[in-house]
Amino acid sequence: MSDEIRRAAAHLKSGHCVAMPTETVYGLAARVDSPAGISSIFRLKERPSFDPLIVHVASLDEIDRLTAEWPRAAASLAQAFWPGPLTLVVKKRPEINNMITSGLDTVGIRMPRHPIALALIQEAGAPLAAPSANRFGRTSPTSASHVANEFPDAVRSGEIQILDGGESSVGVESTVCQVTENEVVILRPGGVTFEDLVKHFAENQDPKLRGVRVTRSIGHHASPGHTEHHYETRKPLIVSWQGPLEPKSYRVQGQTIPFDEIRELVLPSEPALAARSLYALLRDGDQDSASQALFIRRDLTQEKNRTGLWAAIDDRLMRASRLQLGDGPLKISTGSGT
Ligand code: TXA
Ligand code: MG
Repeated sequence: MSDEIRRAAAHLKSGHCVAMPTETVYGLAARVDSPAGISSIFRLKERPSFDPLIVHVASLDEIDRLTAEWPRAAASLAQAFWPGPLTLVVKKRPEINNMITSGLDTVGIRMPRHPIALALIQEAGAPLAAPSANRFGRTSPTSASHVANEFPDAVRSGEIQILDGGESSVGVESTVCQVTENEVVILRPGGVTFEDLVKHFAENQDPKLRGVRVTRSIGHHASPGHTEHHYETRKPLIVSWQGPLEPKSYRVQGQTIPFDEIRELVLPSEPALAARSLYALLRDGDQDSASQALFIRRDLTQEKNRTGLWAAIDDRLMRASRLQLGDGPLKISTGSGT
């Protein structure tokens, strides 16, 4: 692998992209100081320019070069949860390429936990900007073969080099948080849970940090790229928050789908396993030629099925689905904690 990592670092240096494994999902990476590499990311993903990229670091030494402010709350979260699935959005240095930050005055930063990602960033000698390695709005990749299926031409031609780091262990993306002195706003739920963040501050040794409020942003001021329709499968996905499908046909996006052409995908009941298998399950469902639509059932009756990692899983299901039956988690749980 070390030869492959050296080759990948050289590929990045010459203005190309590398698909890098992380513990959340695979990212399509370019050096932050390579305008050619960054524009390739947007072109390959067909990603709109309004959607900023997360900058991945391997060491806290990079923070000064990237940020104009590093609130005490951010430093404390980085110490507790990095390397790991947490992205911190803070005021950026003006020198950071505007393509990365979509012209915003903030930058999202994360230190991934996967050893190959860390080794690649170190070998590159520069932070790497990386979105999830899928076409814009589609299901995220949690294995090297998912990336190869997503960008067959660019992988075959060698434009994208893939580093195979096995299956992503967390399986859903990082939690994106906007961090200021007194408040942490969750812009996208992910691998670090709301409860983890609330506990971190509530039990903090530092009395100033005990006053930091953690809020979930529902709808308003969410991440620019975290759109209502995202993580989409190719076949329409039906999600039920109320019970099993009735044996009848369903009308989804102007299409009538007979009951026996809807394939049910069963998520494991343990949330860490459900998160890990979610995207692979959706991709498998898409590939199955015997069905026209996919169906996932979630049971929100018990509180344990609505908290922790389920918040991230249900967020993805809501955005990926084309038809929802019953009241989803937004109707049931909102809130904040200090
Ligand atoms: O786990 C992850 O976060 C993966 C791996 C590869 O690190 N990356 C990922 O990137 O999910 P992407 O581009 O698919 O999603 C990044 C999200 C988008 O919703 C984007 O709008 C938001 O983070 N984001 C990035 N920078 C931001 C900023 N400065 N302000 C607000 N939102 C930001
Ligand atoms: Mg993405």
